[in-house]
Amino acid sequence: MKELSFLLGVPNIGDLIPSLAWVNYLNGLNARLEKNFNEIDAFLDEVIEEHIEKKKMIDDNGGHENEEEDFVDVMLRIEKDCTLGFPFARDSTKAIILDMFAAGTDTSSVSVDWAMSELLREPEIMEDVQKEVRAIAQGKLVLKDCDIEEMHYLKAVIKETIRLHPPLPLLVPRESMEYINLKGYDIPAKTRVMINAYAIARDPMSWEEPEKFWPKRFLQGGSSASVDFKGCDFQFIPFGAGTRGCPGMTFAMSVVELALANLLNRFDWSLPNGMDARYLNMEEGAGITAYRKSELLVIAKPHYI
Ligand code: HEM
Repeated sequence: MKELSFLLGVPNIGDLIPSLAWVNYLNGLNARLEKNFNEIDAFLDEVIEEHIEKKKMIDDNGGHENEEEDFVDVMLRIEKDCTLGFPFARDSTKAIILDMFAAGTDTSSVSVDWAMSELLREPEIMEDVQKEVRAIAQGKLVLKDCDIEEMHYLKAVIKETIRLHPPLPLLVPRESMEYINLKGYDIPAKTRVMINAYAIARDPMSWEEPEKFWPKRFLQGGSSASVDFKGCDFQFIPFGAGTRGCPGMTFAMSVVELALANLLNRFDWSLPNGMDARYLNMEEGAGITAYRKSELLVIAKPHYI
């Protein structure tokens, strides 16, 4: 997935100057694409085969109708029953599974990564958010969805994290459908449009102290208390906006909140070898998803012993 993210984001001369597309044979880009495609394709074949086998076994054993279906089962059923009214072949099933995987996994995991990085750099905020989480946890070792509801500071920490580190900093490339004149600029139809959500979320015209990790800005009384990521406040669009905005937003937030709350509840965190958090490398790597350039290495000390 990391290689796929890199390949999706890497500048590709053939996209800009089609007559120079041959350069991608020389610089190895096409070979990397081919290798990544083959690996992912083989993996998806395996996943699909497993599901077909499982379904066959259930059917052979007289299967119950309400046997729980997962996402792949549903896609295979749609493919088999042709209920969509248009042809839907195996390639489409694979593309949709890959889309969900690519869009849903590393975007959520990098959010947890960046939240931990920022919290390690801000011990007071770490302490405050752990206080909130532990007060609500009341000694529980595993937190569930229902425990998170009242964790307002935790939610503000996550919002502030994806403001400073939107997992897809340039969203997903789009194409304009018709000509438009925007603030005096002529933009022809079929122009590739990239939205720099990263820069927008650090614009001093919209944000007080935009470079500062300051979750309280999103809490009641804070300077951005009413700003949310749902696509109506254009200064904060980590999930995009409009009809093609992220369909996984609610699910993603639940996953990130749950993961972070459990990490903060169960462990006390520090950097190895007494490293000074001010020197933690906060650079992003290349690719469509903003990973940390260097891996975050931390020491986890169990809180409840
Ligand atoms: C913190 C986590 C996530 C972030 C920040 C995020 C962000 C985004 C963004 C910016 C887009 C493009 C929107 C646009 O261009 O306007 C997108 C698209 C998409 N996301 Fe997410 N996403 C996250 C998690 C997820 C999850 C968990 C899923 C699914 C389980 C998911 C599924 C999708 C899909 C399928 C699309 C493509 C939509 C389309 O254009 O058809 N995302 N996401």
